Amino acid sequence: MTGSSRLPVSLRDAYQAKRTTPRGQLLALNVDILRNIVFILFVLRWTRKAFYTLKGRGLTGTVIDTYTSVRRILYGYFLRLPGVRSKVQSQVGEAISKLEQKLVPSGPGIDRYIKLPAEGWSAEEVRKELEKLSEMKHTRWEDGRVSGAVYHGGKELVKHHGGEDLVKLQTEAFASFTYSNPIHPDVFPGVRKMEAEVVAMVLAMFNAPEGAAGVTTSGGTESILMACLSARNKAYAERGVTEPEMILPETAHTAFRKAGEYFKIKIHLAPCPAPAYRVNLRAVQRLVNPNTVLLVGSAPNFPHGIIDDISGLSRIAARKGIPLHVDCCLGSFLVPFLQKAGFETEMFDFRLKGVTSISCDTHKYGFAPKGNSTVLYRSDALRAYQYFICPDWSGGVYASPSIAGSRPGALIAGCWASLVACGESGYIAACHKIVGAAKRIESELHAHPVLAADLKVMGKPLVSVVAFTSSTLDIYDVADAMSARGWHLNALQNPPAIHVAVTLPIVGAADQLITDLVESVESVREAERQRVAQGKGAKGSVKGDAAALYGVAGSLPNKSVVVDLAKGFLDTLYKA
Ligand SMILES: *Cc1c(COP(=O)(O)O)cnc(C)c1O
Ligand SMILES: *[C@@H]1O[C@H](CO)[C@@H](O)[C@H](O)[C@H]1NC(C)=O
Ligand SMILES: *[C@@H]1O[C@H](CO)[C@@H](O)[C@H](O)[C@H]1NC(C)=O
Repeated sequence: MTGSSRLPVSLRDAYQAKRTTPRGQLLALNVDILRNIVFILFVLRWTRKAFYTLKGRGLTGTVIDTYTSVRRILYGYFLRLPGVRSKVQSQVGEAISKLEQKLVPSGPGIDRYIKLPAEGWSAEEVRKELEKLSEMKHTRWEDGRVSGAVYHGGKELVKHHGGEDLVKLQTEAFASFTYSNPIHPDVFPGVRKMEAEVVAMVLAMFNAPEGAAGVTTSGGTESILMACLSARNKAYAERGVTEPEMILPETAHTAFRKAGEYFKIKIHLAPCPAPAYRVNLRAVQRLVNPNTVLLVGSAPNFPHGIIDDISGLSRIAARKGIPLHVDCCLGSFLVPFLQKAGFETEMFDFRLKGVTSISCDTHKYGFAPKGNSTVLYRSDALRAYQYFICPDWSGGVYASPSIAGSRPGALIAGCWASLVACGESGYIAACHKIVGAAKRIESELHAHPVLAADLKVMGKPLVSVVAFTSSTLDIYDVADAMSARGWHLNALQNPPAIHVAVTLPIVGAADQLITDLVESVESVREAERQRVAQGKGAKGSVKGDAAALYGVAGSLPNKSVVVDLAKGFLDTLYKA
């Protein structure tokens, strides 16, 4: 046995051998060198990390981040102290059971089916029960009372073709393709064709260059997950990046954070400061480092409906050679048509050289049935990075473009039918109505004496979402006052605000929305005045749901209580 073949001895053996024999001395020296190299690499790695952290967040930013996370951890321990813990748990439990009472119907009049019926029902019985289910008491989206959620009005849109109803057309499309599954293109050639055509039509809407490609997915979240996966895989394949990071505007959709968790991509949030609420480009630039695999911009974002400075992001992306994803999930079939519908717009699509991928939800303003979206790439090579291919499975060579294996061909047919039934003219007309209504709401917020006194529009929304905040009232009280009037607006946080995402059903209810908002602001203002009159110390009246949740959540250094509440909420969804 030669000396060199004994190298992999344990460190302790090496130290014992140290200096006792010449060979031992040599070995010890080798081990020392190895140890030093490892140490230097370790130090280099941490120096590099520290350097990029400091570069990314600056000295103050780093200090603030450290302070926040120390506070969060300490507060987390505080919440776990025996006395505190039981109190918190009982309050969380109480809140969850209240939620359950609201969401899960119970009582003698309610039939619950928690086992398969021993004998199958007749079609008539099934139909009767389905009808009952669809008519359960709910917030009235049909009357335009719900922000977002249902984007087309069913009857409205396809009227220019002889009064046909879009929902009816979609249902017929389902019926013809219920059994189909695009995983078998030879069995269902029509489905394959429709799917490819949906992608082609959306690519054309976003001015995709020659060679661009895309896929369809089950929704905006999957589209975003796939874009992040593709960027991560590309960076690994082409640059050997093993600790991927991506830079998001803090207002970017939370699906990007989901992608970060699922695919182990570190997230950096870049601020979107008032008054414009667009992502700060200098902050983005500073956060770029050799591990950056993707930049992100929204057109527009969910919270405030603001389009980020995509041209600016594109310049950074192109200069640094990093992919840029533009999230048009919400903008979907509105942003591409703003100009044609006569509204102000901005550049956001593939005409900007740095833009490498775009997500566009057909199931939002494309008016397709829920469960459908697209993700587009500048090249088919980028698309291939999201593919999953397994050449050696015992079940055969397997290849699938996205997360799902088997997929519903019926939804593809429903999506295709919606796109061709509306056509460009249909979408331009819808854009006209929807963005027009959003503008009307925005201008009332600026001009109406009651609204202008207490509410403030956030930034300059160009599309369908109008967000507003208040420096004089608790904006969540306003949200609750609107709920009491039958509205479902979206509560936002950091900073506290609410928004309305205008949809076709809301277009007809916009005037009512203004009226109710005026009333709500007046009532909250009056309640506030009474509270002040009774003295500052007096406990306010019972808070509504939004005010209670966000009032607490906003002030907590560690949101584990909110996490527990949210878990309880998810559990409630599966209570039969
Ligand atoms: C709705 C939305 C998404 C994706 O949401 P899904 O519910 O998964 O379709 C992504 N980004 C923005 C800005 C959105 O509004
Ligand atoms: C709260 O603090 C605990 C530890 O103190 C930590 O593990 C947890 O991740 C924190 N939770 C949140 C949501 O900040
Ligand atoms: C529609 O949705 C299904 C899954 O929900 C998806 O597999 C399919 O690709 C989508 N098709 C289109 C045209 O968006």
